[in-house]
Amino acid sequence: MAIVDVATPSESHEFSVLVLHGPNLNLLGLREPGIYGAATLAQIDARLVELGKSLNVRVQSFQSNHEGVLVDTIHAARDTHHGIVINAGAYTHTSIAIRDAISAVQLPTVEVHLSNIYKREEFRHHSHLASIAVGQVSGFGASSYYLGLQALVAHLEG
Ligand code: DQA
Repeated sequence: MAIVDVATPSESHEFSVLVLHGPNLNLLGLREPGIYGAATLAQIDARLVELGKSLNVRVQSFQSNHEGVLVDTIHAARDTHHGIVINAGAYTHTSIAIRDAISAVQLPTVEVHLSNIYKREEFRHHSHLASIAVGQVSGFGASSYYLGLQALVAHLEG
């Protein structure tokens, strides 16, 4: 589990975005690098914070391997964030609870995947999140997160 939040009280941001990482993404860098790339989660999170600064957006990242913890974190985001970028990992394909949590808090959400889930095993082709997300970015490695953050900010800015 990792939390990255480098915003200082003196920094004023237009929007605040929660980046949520689901199960096994704490192992990025070690985990099947041929599929998921060499970047670690800490490297991706640091780059997201930097990108957020250039977009005038506060970025807070959180990873959990536990479905209920992800649901609780989405609920808490209602009071602190304007939108969510989520890579729910395998829960993408199984979790109605995470989908319902996102629907419940009504925060604009962008779904991201490092790999192209549609090029892989059939069980990865269905996402419970896709139909309630603003949109989905899949298949661009770590850049899926960066593109997802940019797309969410553009959506928030209207
Ligand atoms: C993933 C794709 C999922 O199918 C898988 O279970 C993951 C990672 C991706 O980022 O490509 O854990 O969400």
